[in-house]
Amino acid sequence: MLLVSSVLQMRQGSTIASSIDSLFDFLFWVSVVGLFAVTVATVWFAWRYRRGRIAADATPYIDGHTPSELTVAGLLFVLVMVIFYWGWVGYERIVNVPANAMEINVTGRQWQWLFEYPNGRKMAGELVVPLGRPVHLLMTSTDVLHSFYVPGFRLKQDVIPNSYTSLWFEPTETGEFQVFCAEYCGTAHSQMLAKLHVLEAKEYDRWQTRWEYKQKLGDDNTVASGGVGAANASAGNTVSLVDRGKKFFNDKGCTSCHSSTDARMVGPGLGGVFGSEVSLEGGGTVTADENYLRESIMQSTKKVVRGFPPIMPIYQGTLTDDEINALVAYIKSLGN
Ligand code: CUA
Repeated sequence: MLLVSSVLQMRQGSTIASSIDSLFDFLFWVSVVGLFAVTVATVWFAWRYRRGRIAADATPYIDGHTPSELTVAGLLFVLVMVIFYWGWVGYERIVNVPANAMEINVTGRQWQWLFEYPNGRKMAGELVVPLGRPVHLLMTSTDVLHSFYVPGFRLKQDVIPNSYTSLWFEPTETGEFQVFCAEYCGTAHSQMLAKLHVLEAKEYDRWQTRWEYKQKLGDDNTVASGGVGAANASAGNTVSLVDRGKKFFNDKGCTSCHSSTDARMVGPGLGGVFGSEVSLEGGGTVTADENYLRESIMQSTKKVVRGFPPIMPIYQGTLTDDEINALVAYIKSLGN
């Protein structure tokens, strides 16, 4: 059978790609068969019932045929439900991020993609991921709407300011894949590209270890030449995301109201809060995901935890996206 992806010569670079292609091929062939059937029927009826063969004044009165109407409606209903179920199963797979996925922060901005690994490594316009391991992209934008699109993986997700969206994938093929921005975002939208490199898992680990080792060496060199103070100053961009978040947590004064365990202070303790159900003032609960943490920092009075006064300052406009990403990563790392 003709497969659309092979006609377009598209690589299937992720675990989800082939099932998305199957659904697409199914829709394509349903459409082809449907178009053919309707066209043939139209031509046949036009010829069969053309003027002249049957006297114009002898057109019979037809008031329906219940069995054939029910059959057609039933078949179409089944077809639509098959398509719905198929799409729903795929959607579930796409939105449910596996718990063991490696997390990478993605920031979209006019007109560039920025990536940050858990170890603090930052890349611009280039993303390197391991083969055969699930990767979770936690994405946000510093300005307008963007959309992270990897055709080779059959995945696309909007990236929006002041909020996180997620995308996860597991690469099934090494090599280079093109990343596009798929949401018009201004003058250089079409140049908002990135390269996604998939390396063998071992090679990927080496690639990270080499970098971590180099960073260490770099710091040691600074210690030798410029003393401890210089080493601290340069350590800012080499520490892991979690450690940077911990530093902000202390520097921004969070520690005066929040403990890093579940101990209650002026505000709720943050140990083990990520992923838990939080009861809110005024009723209702919310799952403490990345977006809830972000909102609670930026617009702290919007969802106040039950039993606490709404006195936390609003940090909207005073923290950069970079700082929020680090704080969220730190809070996520806190166990009970
Ligand atoms: Cu970013 Cu288009």
